[in-house]
Amino acid sequence: MTVYASGTVMSRKTNSVDAPVLGAIDKSAGRIGEQLARMLRDAITRGELKPGERLPSTRTLASSLDVARGTVTDVFGQLVAEGYLEARMGAGTLVSQTWAEPEWRDRPTGFETTTPDDPIPLPPNIERYAAVVKAMSPLPPVPFSIAVPRGDVALDDTWRRLSNRVRATQAAAPTTYGDPAGLRSLREAVADYARKSRAVTCTADNVIIMSGTQQGLYVSARVLLSHGDVAWAENPAYPGLTAVLDDAQTRLFRVPVDSNGMDLTHAIARFPAARAIFVTPSHQYPLGMPLSMARRAALLRWARESGAWVIEDDYDSELRYAGHPFPSMQGLDPARVIYLGTFSKVLAPSLRLGYAIVPPALVDAFIGARALMDRHSPLADQHVIAAFMRDGYFETHVRRIRGVYAERRATLLAELQRQIPAIEVQPSDQGMHVLAWLPAYIDDKQVEAAAAASGIAVRAISSMYDGPAPRPGLMLGFGGHSVEQLSEAAGRLRDVIEQVAQLR
Ligand SMILES: Cc1ncc(COP(=O)(O)O)c(C=O)c1O
Repeated sequence: MTVYASGTVMSRKTNSVDAPVLGAIDKSAGRIGEQLARMLRDAITRGELKPGERLPSTRTLASSLDVARGTVTDVFGQLVAEGYLEARMGAGTLVSQTWAEPEWRDRPTGFETTTPDDPIPLPPNIERYAAVVKAMSPLPPVPFSIAVPRGDVALDDTWRRLSNRVRATQAAAPTTYGDPAGLRSLREAVADYARKSRAVTCTADNVIIMSGTQQGLYVSARVLLSHGDVAWAENPAYPGLTAVLDDAQTRLFRVPVDSNGMDLTHAIARFPAARAIFVTPSHQYPLGMPLSMARRAALLRWARESGAWVIEDDYDSELRYAGHPFPSMQGLDPARVIYLGTFSKVLAPSLRLGYAIVPPALVDAFIGARALMDRHSPLADQHVIAAFMRDGYFETHVRRIRGVYAERRATLLAELQRQIPAIEVQPSDQGMHVLAWLPAYIDDKQVEAAAAASGIAVRAISSMYDGPAPRPGLMLGFGGHSVEQLSEAAGRLRDVIEQVAQLR
């Protein structure tokens, strides 16, 4: 065979093979090494160079191509690394024998690509995962989206200064992996805080830093439940939880909620075999009522007797506006309850940091399951939050934003009452959203769509129910929006509701 290189005919014979057709190198186009590598790869994949054939020496090829010998040496080295060529002591450089393996040998026409017309059998999981994208897509940061700490409730200069100082230290940017359980100083700060503010029984050893409560829910499902196990979740519930339980292929029973929270009697009578119970006892998501003390005691007793775990999602308990908060359920039975907390509501959801506080018997398993997902959360922000908590800024920040939120919440409630008297607000005393019940004849999903078109963002609660919702309703976040924005948006919501009512 003959090599044509830069128009030159090369007729050097080797003992086993003639040189391949390489085509011409276009020197004016530059990147000569890349051109040569591509020519060699093509010749091999098209079968013009056969497995075991020997290439000319680098010196011979370089001189026939009129390129630097170093360029040819580099290309050979690269193609040896990619498995196209092999360098054999005493025998020079050969086309690799891997090209003789059956799955390649029978198709010597180069790499084939899938054309748009080829039917691609898709994996059975895709619909389930694709549905999660819609369920969990964040709302735009306009009234009444929920977790958007902006303006007076945003992390302020204190955070920025501390953050810059901490990040500049070597400790905040180590060159090794960190502990998958999280930064020790942050675990200690969280343990102190959860003990003091939520009556959680724990030490730093029980605290595992997670990338938000979402990961805490996912890890809980992975560790506590096997395929086909029964789990309970409230009805309605946070879509990020029901998607997790669906993903774990559990048998999921949705427990109705009344004004005292999860209806335990109904659950026990209908679905007695739960292995794990997911509950939002401080502030039922999305409706807002707390789980009564009597029901907490009954739930824990039942869990103890039937060997079930309780997963307490305490997603916004820092933000209470009246009365004394109920202490955590975890504090009532620390060996039975997995407590999940988050920095998403009081600091910022973009931090992706939260924590699970788990019974000693589960600690290693939770750390292991978490490590399988992403090893650990980035360390720099863990250092920053640890310092923010240790130096007392966290408590000050929470106190400050609680005051701002209380004012915004009061404005929203007053504006709803004034501008949309047909709405009934669910009594509740904490969090970053209120639940507004709509008149029964109004479709909340239509309101959600029409609101988006008019520049406000609401969530319809009917999509958080399994089965029909007893009443239509909207989640209205007040967190990141000023009192002026909230009163103006209440007017827009009134117009949207009137518009949807007329469609009837
Ligand atoms: C009830 C509930 N649980 C869990 C989460 C997840 O929060 P995180 O941002 O900590 O993952 C949310 C977020 O909105 C929530 O509302």
